Amino acid sequence: MRLILLGPPGAGKGTQAERLQARFAVAQLSTGDMLRAAAKSGSEVGRQAARIMARGELVPDAVVVGIIDERVDSADCRNGFILDGFPRTIAQAQALDAMLARKGLKLDAVLELTVDEEELVDRISGRFACVKCGAGYHDRHLQPKVAGVCDRCGGTEFSRRADDNAVAVRTRLKAFREQTAPLLPYYRQRGILRSIDGMTGIDQVTKALFAALAPPA
Ligand code: AP5
Ligand code: MG
Repeated sequence: MRLILLGPPGAGKGTQAERLQARFAVAQLSTGDMLRAAAKSGSEVGRQAARIMARGELVPDAVVVGIIDERVDSADCRNGFILDGFPRTIAQAQALDAMLARKGLKLDAVLELTVDEEELVDRISGRFACVKCGAGYHDRHLQPKVAGVCDRCGGTEFSRRADDNAVAVRTRLKAFREQTAPLLPYYRQRGILRSIDGMTGIDQVTKALFAALAPPA
């Protein structure tokens, strides 16, 4: 199964991609996570990306297309993958089409998570993650079962993202409206776009996504 999870910053793409990954035994490919890993590694590309990301702007198309092109050939993508945060521009979507055609692969669905802007800001400002394993949490909506201890790995150190500040969030929302939202008609006209109400609780959104992917009875 090959999916795209589309939605504005804070919509729940990462949260839901993790659940879809477990359910369908496919790989979660988050360009945001990959770029943050590159930034941490200190490589030249990573350092450049980190500066752009901290401002909330988009990294150049060629950089992310290159990352994805290489990544989809990995063994863990044999059963398929969920693209989380890619594509984000029409140029990226066209590059993805060409890449999949070249590899003889096809997209099964594009799932859009719809969430109001006020709610997005609330979700982003409350988000934190385990430093050791990356598991994501929220101050109010998703707390570790034992305060201060990661459910998944037992880690006790947590961090917040550098781009989760008010100024960068405004720029990220603008980038979504201007550069990513045009992907909605692009996939709608191909008949593979499904919109999911992302305003409900985390478990309800997961249920709606699973239902959207279930084969017709
Ligand atoms: P990226 O890492 O992709 O960030 P984003 O798109 O801004 O999305 P987020 O990760 O902030 O949100 P999310 O939708 O994953 O929400 P989450 O599940 O965490 O990109 C970062 C940057 O990298 C970009 O700005 C750009 O610079 C660069 N970049 C990445 N890809 C690129 C590309 N293709 N091209 C160019 N540049 C690129 O949920 C948020 C919070 O809400 C969590 O705390 C969660 O617990 C909580 N939550 C989730 N769902 C619910 C719910 N239903 N109810 C209540 N709380 C919820
Ligand atoms: Mg994310």
